[in-house]
Amino acid sequence: MTVTQDSPSPGDGKNAAETVPDDATLTEIELYAIEVVETAGKLVSERFGGDLDVESKDGNGANPVTDVDRASQALITEMVEKRFPEHMILGEEDAPKDEPAARDFIWVVDPIDGTTNYVNGHPVYAVSIGVLHRGEPVAAAVWTPWPTEGGFEIMHARKGGGAWIGDRKLAVKKPSGDEPHRPKRGWLSTIPGSLRFMFKVDRRLRGNLGEPRTTGSAVYELAMVARGVLQYALTGAVFSWDLAAGTLLVKEAGGIVLTPAGPSDQVVGDWAMLDSFAPKFENTQKTTKEMRALRRVVLVGAPEVVWFVSKYVTRRRYGPVRRRLRRWLH
Ligand code: IPD
Ligand code: CA
Ligand code: CA
Repeated sequence: MTVTQDSPSPGDGKNAAETVPDDATLTEIELYAIEVVETAGKLVSERFGGDLDVESKDGNGANPVTDVDRASQALITEMVEKRFPEHMILGEEDAPKDEPAARDFIWVVDPIDGTTNYVNGHPVYAVSIGVLHRGEPVAAAVWTPWPTEGGFEIMHARKGGGAWIGDRKLAVKKPSGDEPHRPKRGWLSTIPGSLRFMFKVDRRLRGNLGEPRTTGSAVYELAMVARGVLQYALTGAVFSWDLAAGTLLVKEAGGIVLTPAGPSDQVVGDWAMLDSFAPKFENTQKTTKEMRALRRVVLVGAPEVVWFVSKYVTRRRYGPVRRRLRRWLH
């Protein structure tokens, strides 16, 4: 694989758009991501419902990690390093003490998304691999348990190549009816469990969010939007490994991805397109650290519906005291 054009020297200030990898390169990455996610999915599903070593990352029973999360990440890391030694892996588990400088291609990995479901024997979880090029998602593969022959499905995409399950092209749920932009009764959507704490929902949307669910796996939710099961999904503040693959699936299935605009956009409370996980990408440790720390709320789905919902849902802003009090109360 030729990477010369895509491997600018550290800190050269180029953004992703100026150094777009060619389609042959992306196809090679996409196909390998499918192979890797299938291997990891097999490992994870074979251990489902069995004995697990479970630790709580928060120390209070919440935010569990299991030996299977770690084994899945180790397997993915080994496979990627073998095939693409010049790429980098940013996995959720076991962050290195000394983060490496960001490389142009970064495989952002959630070895099990929905670990709380997984440890409780609830088969709503996913293995997620999103490949970023200078911060922007360019390839994705998501493994989910699915009640078909074989017991799983893999959704995959590359930038500009569409989103697929095997040879079936995916499309977000097509809005229809007299008011196509409005979430519909009888059509599923997902919202975070902490909706009321996190968001102000205008009364015009209250009771009109569709048929809201909360699944416990952000990756699963984005994947379900891409395959047209959900009309839209609104997440809590989740990490890059929850979003890297799923956001590309949604876009390649014809949807859009919005995130609350940051202070630098000077439109607090409003929404902006989420295109990059590192808008000021540099081949530096600072970029890696920023990507590991990144947390974003996203609102995804068919453009009409997402723009409509975004008009009536605004992020609440709390000071540090209120945030601490809530953590203490929960
Ligand atoms: C979690 C899931 C969940 C979301 C949490 C994530 P994990 O990921 O995606 O839906 O609400 O914020 O941490 O810990 O199971 O990989
Ligand atoms: Ca996750
Ligand atoms: Ca995880």
